[in-house]
Amino acid sequence: MKKLCVIGNPIEHSLSPKIHNIWIKQNKLDFIYEKKLLEKEDLQKIIKELKDDNLFGCNVTVPFKQNIIEFVDELSSVSLKTNSVNTLYKSGSKIIGHNTDVMGFQKSLEDLKFNFKNKSAFLIGAGGVSPSIIEALNNLGIGKIIVTNRSEDKLNKLSDLYENLEIIGWEKIKNADVYINATSVGLNKNDKLNLDLSDIKNKLFYDVIYNPKKTNFLEEAEKNNNRIANGKMMFLYQAQASFKIWTGVEPVITDEVIKTLND
Ligand code: ATR
Repeated sequence: MKKLCVIGNPIEHSLSPKIHNIWIKQNKLDFIYEKKLLEKEDLQKIIKELKDDNLFGCNVTVPFKQNIIEFVDELSSVSLKTNSVNTLYKSGSKIIGHNTDVMGFQKSLEDLKFNFKNKSAFLIGAGGVSPSIIEALNNLGIGKIIVTNRSEDKLNKLSDLYENLEIIGWEKIKNADVYINATSVGLNKNDKLNLDLSDIKNKLFYDVIYNPKKTNFLEEAEKNNNRIANGKMMFLYQAQASFKIWTGVEPVITDEVIKTLND
């Protein structure tokens, strides 16, 4: 039996094992997918497990998507661009770090049938997931990306990675066609960003968070006649792409899979 896993800290609430194990069962594959709570010091051990074939593949989540980079043998071009790895696999004797978050986010945007070409996006947050979002928006031909973040430190790092960003100070709001929450604010249902977006109407609001289903950010946006989307499909599409890399099978996002995230 081939072993897959997701590594992170915390990891208890990850829904990846549920999703992947449904797909393993649906496709009658001899795989198992587990979750592993790790410390930073354990990252090298995971790479060794992959090298020794004790582990077949691995998803990487918060807070290790950057930390893992120094231990892999090779980065895919998208991981290199985003400085972020969420999927590990072995090719020959090399461990490859890849990023399926970009594809996940991009596909979820395509589902919305919203034309991003030459539009503007207001991105809130410059943390781990932001480069993947910027990459996907660029792939879709976005015209302008305005980014804000509570701390300046992460904003500076992000603008080192991407040149086409308009950086603005926290609590300043600019007009845009799409507003994206890429912060961790909202993971707890009562959390609220200290940004006043109440004047923004008839736009698209996207929250990378999918649990809770409707964060305060989306709830308020909906009240102001904005179209809303959460990160559920992004999560499913990134998982689908990782699964295909490891098993060669493109799993189907069935109602059972979607229901797992809705429950
Ligand atoms: P991860 O890599 O785990 O996603 P991260 O890189 O620390 O975590 O990203 C979390 C994001 O949420 C950051 O943009 C963070 O802003 P800071 O750089 O100021 O920490 C943002 N964030 C977290 N709590 C926040 C809060 N209460 N208000 C505004 N932004 C917050």
